[in-house]
Amino acid sequence: MSDTVLGILASGRGSNMQVILENIKGGKLQATIGVVISDHANAKVLEIATAAGIPAICIERKAFATKQEFEVAIAEKLSFYNVELVVLAGFMRILSGHLISLFSGRIMNIHPSLLPAFPGLHAHEQVIAYGAKVSGCTIHFVDEGMDTGPIIMQQAVPVLPGDTADSLADRIIKVEHTLYSQAIRLYCTKRLCIEGRNVKIIEG
Ligand code: GRF
Repeated sequence: MSDTVLGILASGRGSNMQVILENIKGGKLQATIGVVISDHANAKVLEIATAAGIPAICIERKAFATKQEFEVAIAEKLSFYNVELVVLAGFMRILSGHLISLFSGRIMNIHPSLLPAFPGLHAHEQVIAYGAKVSGCTIHFVDEGMDTGPIIMQQAVPVLPGDTADSLADRIIKVEHTLYSQAIRLYCTKRLCIEGRNVKIIEG
C-alpha cells in the first residue's frame, strides 16, 4: 500500500503534528506529510515543518476578502501537494462548505474533550467550570458544525481534585498524541467506514 499524503492545518505550537511526524519517521504510520498550512505566520508548527523539510505555508485569513476565498487558497495548496487526508491539529477556524465538500469524509479534527460535551474554544476551562469529573479527547470527521462531525475515537481522562485548566490540558494532550496517530493509521489502512453519524472501525 502506498503512503497516504497528509495535509496538516494548525494554528499554534504543533505538538500533535510533531508526534505524527515522529510516528511516520519511526515507521509506525505509513503516511507522508505533504504540506503544513497555518493561518498564523509565527506559528511554531511552521518552524517544526520547515526544520523537517516539509513545505510550510502561511495563509492568513486577513489576506482575503471572504472566507470562501481564504478556503479556496487553502484547497489549492492541499490539491497542489496531492493531499488525501486533511488533519486539523489545533486549527482554530471552522471550515465551511467549499473545503468540506472538496475533501468530503477526508478531514479529521482532534478536540480536547469528550464530545458532544464542551465543544468550541477553551474546552478545559469549560470542564473545570462545570465541575465534570471526566474529560478526555475526541477525534472526529469534520462537518460544517463546530466539533459536530462523526466520531472516530474517544478516550476518557479523569479530572482530578485541584485540577486547573492547565493541569488537565497537560494530562489530556498526552492521550491526544497517542490517539491521533491511531486514528490516522486506521484511515491509512482503509479501516474507517462512515455510515451517517457512525464511523465503523473495520477489524484489522
Ligand atoms: C490540542 O489540544 C487539540 O486538541 C486542540 O488544539 C490543541 C493543539 O495543540 N484542537 P498542538 O498545537 O497540537 O500542540
